[in-house]
Amino acid sequence: MTTALITGSTAGIGAAFARRLAADGHDLVLVARDTKRLQEQATELHDRHGIEAEVLTADLAEDDGISSVEKRLDDHRRPVDLLVNNAGFGNKGRFLEVSMADELRMLKVHCEAVLRLTAAATAPMRDRGRGGVVNVASIAAFVPRGTYGASKAWVVQFTQGAARDLAGTGVRLMALCPGFVRTEFHQRAGMGTENIPGWMWLDADKLVSSALADLARGRTLSVPDPRYKALMGAVKLAPRGLLGGISSRAGRKYGPK
Ligand SMILES: NC(=O)c1ccc[n+]([C@@H]2O[C@H](COP(=O)([O-])OP(=O)(O)OC[C@H]3O[C@@H](n4cnc5c(N)ncnc54)[C@H](OP(=O)(O)O)[C@@H]3O)[C@@H](O)[C@H]2O)c1
Repeated sequence: MTTALITGSTAGIGAAFARRLAADGHDLVLVARDTKRLQEQATELHDRHGIEAEVLTADLAEDDGISSVEKRLDDHRRPVDLLVNNAGFGNKGRFLEVSMADELRMLKVHCEAVLRLTAAATAPMRDRGRGGVVNVASIAAFVPRGTYGASKAWVVQFTQGAARDLAGTGVRLMALCPGFVRTEFHQRAGMGTENIPGWMWLDADKLVSSALADLARGRTLSVPDPRYKALMGAVKLAPRGLLGGISSRAGRKYGPK
């Protein structure tokens, strides 16, 4: 039996990882801020799949929250075999419309927490000679989209660099770059989604399935779905083209929710 720790496990993409990994027989450590929701999720996954699901309440925008997850990852008596750094959020508004406190909170959750948790997980994984880390970035890493896109570009570069540094140790790292996925993300940020064409939306369960297949293949970058692979090709040719325009407009206009 192996154990996976998922941050942001209670909704959207994180919940899809939890469902799939539990169905595959992995024990889980579920991390988010809402304890009641975490406990309900743990009970449901335990009852449905017979796995052990541990609850760890932590706010990854706070030092104490990051430290408590680092401590769990460093617990050698209860090793974590797979870390999914998934917790994240969007801020509505363009540059200078978002408060500096919110910009910095995003960097803390998307970058500092990912850096510290990846280090805390991979050091013992390297000693054991096996393990995996999935860092959830975004297709926004490849287009100009304010602090969100910049933070996700950091996730991609950091993950691929660390994967290279740890090559040959048995530890795999992969950056996952979803396109638009129907989750609580846009609603939580108060972002409108009416500009996003229907064909651009991905299903979270299918996304997770592709991501885990890519991790098993040893990929360090996963862009699930042929539609987005094709768009990535277009973005390489015209960086400020189709996807950049859609991505930049989608939901970022500041105003009433
Ligand atoms: N949805 C998309 O279109 C899309 C596209 C590309 C990439 N992504 C990325 O995918 C990841 C997951 O997003 P999602 O769409 O699944 O969002 P979501 O449905 O809003 O879920 C976010 C999850 O993260 C947790 N979370 C948020 N802030 C947190 C914090 N400070 N500390 C700990 N946990 C926190 C939330 O639980 P609590 O509120 O209880 O903490 C929740 O479980 C994010 O990194 C996002 O940037 C999403």
